[in-house]
Amino acid sequence: MTRPIFAAALVLLGIVLTTGAIAQSTRTPEQLAQGAINTRKSVVRLFAFNMAPINAMARGNREFDAALVERNARRIAALAPMLPETFAAMDTREFNLETEALPVVWDEFDEFQQRANNLIQGVTELAEVAAAGNQMETIRTAGAIGRTYCGGCHEMFREQN
Ligand code: HEC
Repeated sequence: MTRPIFAAALVLLGIVLTTGAIAQSTRTPEQLAQGAINTRKSVVRLFAFNMAPINAMARGNREFDAALVERNARRIAALAPMLPETFAAMDTREFNLETEALPVVWDEFDEFQQRANNLIQGVTELAEVAAAGNQMETIRTAGAIGRTYCGGCHEMFREQN
């Protein structure tokens, strides 16, 4: 590369990097709120992705697989602390954006946190029961997760459709 071209390339790179940095710092509050909503929805969608095969086993639509239940339950346990974190990171109540989260999440944040902790406990127990290999016990424990922990939190904190 000849010197002038190299210099021009460096200048161009500088512009690209600077523009990127400015774009980063000038996100509007609304864009930040949308980002926060996207992130928290990603967490619960991953819960659902990991619960789906477990629910299918519970309904008899899929062959029982204790190792898969254990793996997915542990995944949910690892993801779950991120749910209250994403809500704590940004209070999106004042924005008119698409969300099913009720304002009470931020009014009763301790309760929200507690319910996330309960879910972690519940899926950790599910992983242990699955590891022990008893099919009936595993299915029973899995059913309680959906009703008690997912459904329980939704009842209080998610818009009902
Ligand atoms: C601590 C409370 C809490 C727990 C526990 C919880 N959720 Fe949710 N969930 C929410 C809230 C709040 C929303 C609404 C999020 C939004 O729209 O911003 C939601 C939304 C969802 C959605 C809709 C996501 C979308 O695409 O809009 C799914 C699916 C979901 N939850 C699945 C689950 C499953 C499965 C579990 C259990 C493994 C679970 N959730 C446990 C609070 C919870």
